[in-house]
Amino acid sequence: TDSSIIRNFCIIAHIDHGKSTLADRMLQMTEVLDARAARAQYLDRMDIERERGITIKSQAVRLPWAVAEGNDEGTEPGTYVLNMIDTPGHVDFTYEVSRSLEACEAAILLVDAAQGIEAQTLANLYLAMGADLHIIPVLNKIDLPSANPEKYAAELAGLVGCDPSEVLQVSAKTGFGVEALLNEIVKQTPPPVGAKDKPARALIFDSVYDTYRGVVTYVRVVDGKLNHRDRIKMMSTGATHEMLEVGVISPEQTKAGELGVGEVGYLITGVKDVRQSRVGDTVTTQHHGATDMLGGYKHPNPMVYAGLYPIDGDQFNDLREALEKLQLNDAALTFEPETSGALGFGFRCGFLGLLHMEITRDRLEREFNLDLISTAPNVVYEVTMEDGTEHEVTNPSEFPEGKLAEVREPVVKATILSPSDYIGTIMELCQTKRGTLGGMDYLSEDRVEMRYTLPMGEIVFDFFDQLKSRTKGYASLDYERAGDQAAELVKVDILLQGEPVDAFSAIVHKDAAYGYGVMMAGKLKELIPRQQFEVPIQAAIGARVIARENIRAIRKDVLAKCYGGDISRKRKLLEKQKEGKKRMKMVGRVEVPQEAFVAALSTG
Ligand code: GTP
Repeated sequence: TDSSIIRNFCIIAHIDHGKSTLADRMLQMTEVLDARAARAQYLDRMDIERERGITIKSQAVRLPWAVAEGNDEGTEPGTYVLNMIDTPGHVDFTYEVSRSLEACEAAILLVDAAQGIEAQTLANLYLAMGADLHIIPVLNKIDLPSANPEKYAAELAGLVGCDPSEVLQVSAKTGFGVEALLNEIVKQTPPPVGAKDKPARALIFDSVYDTYRGVVTYVRVVDGKLNHRDRIKMMSTGATHEMLEVGVISPEQTKAGELGVGEVGYLITGVKDVRQSRVGDTVTTQHHGATDMLGGYKHPNPMVYAGLYPIDGDQFNDLREALEKLQLNDAALTFEPETSGALGFGFRCGFLGLLHMEITRDRLEREFNLDLISTAPNVVYEVTMEDGTEHEVTNPSEFPEGKLAEVREPVVKATILSPSDYIGTIMELCQTKRGTLGGMDYLSEDRVEMRYTLPMGEIVFDFFDQLKSRTKGYASLDYERAGDQAAELVKVDILLQGEPVDAFSAIVHKDAAYGYGVMMAGKLKELIPRQQFEVPIQAAIGARVIARENIRAIRKDVLAKCYGGDISRKRKLLEKQKEGKKRMKMVGRVEVPQEAFVAALSTG
């Protein structure tokens, strides 16, 4: 395909603003998918995505679009090839978003005409502008009675730097304005530029594991061409693979002989694991290949860690197998076996962020039928001791004892968008979370964008829930990693009868340590049943106890109930008690019901 007729674009939108509906409508109008086959939301393949309403994995669809009339800017009548690249919408996947943007020349900024722009959309808009994409601002859902196109067109125009009249208005639901949008995409999107005769270079913007086909790698060719007969090379590792198939998605995989400059499609090489075909890497040919990689490759590093433990210890191996399976499709997921005194055998898992963690947990429970306990999430700390040794701490219970010179924690730049009524309450929240205000802008009379620098450890705790509840759900949040900082952090241990319960250890700021200790001790007092002896619960920093509760002793004698009764009844009771014990974990001499751990860990 000649690159002058190619238009590569993506859609930037907040969850529920109608990206999938618009994508479906475009598939229909370009007759790639006829109306009957337009099952709701074709692009979202995983059920879990649909249920959560989040597009996790990006893909690309090729749409032929005939333009009847030319225009003054040099668009000729004829059939164009539009490649629609789907971008993941959530904060945890910023890097994947940036790679999908890199594969495009234009981005449609799609905003609900009754809601206005949200923080994540704004963050992705800034990414798109940073990548020099042409932005096409569009208001969706203008059929809604509550739509306020004037207000939000002005908002978008202000952000993008255009006239409000240039903001397109569509209804993905009724189809109104979508044809005009397709024409505008052809008109406004710059055609790809690349060198036809140079060695091949293609950017991997997604890679997905398919049970039948192995890894399907989605690429955008920048220079040269990839032919199905080529042997290809992954430039970050130098690994070479035989190419089994090259093709485009329209809307199913369709073989093609080769992909040329500016084209978007897929490669299949028989590779079985997405870690061998990394997002951001450059594909070239083994023979006469390119020597310079495309810029911007980053290895995904987990930012949030948590321990995952099977409730039933017999499921440990099932959990390992499940994690291995998920990893085939998730290059960012890491895990290592670990043992917890309280929770038994499990895995310390690394995630890109909280949502990534939640999705993974959810899939383990639903797709693999596992019952899991997870510890509170934590970030990675860099600890330097006075003797100069350094530790990277991914598990709070492994925080080193002894003389510490410095503890460093990761920080994020957060963008919060909210109705201006909540400025005060948001500032208060950010202050208690050790945030510093970087700046504030009004997007319109009553909507404000606030920029904060915050320790990431505070965000992974319960920041998002608190933000939502304090603003009645109106505020939205986005964040990105922004280096690290030294902080006065301490490890708080929780002890039952003098025995530390590793799963409850937390690294907190020294000013918050007392609060954490009192809260956990109080919670456990409620959750742990009385035992045959007294159980002190203590919170401590090193040897210093900072909070204490007591569970008083009881004497429980089940057999007393059937005094003089028959022996089989007694045996039954004992059996029952044994059953109950299975779900108990022993911490020292103390029996703690599984539910107590779950409850204590869940509310943060
Ligand atoms: P995710 O795929 O969940 O990220 O969301 P999305 O942005 O793709 O939104 P989706 O297409 O799922 O649309 C969200 C909701 O808005 C659905 O209930 C759609 O039916 C509805 N919707 C989408 N476009 C329109 C529109 O133009 N008008 C009206 N009234 N509703 C729309």
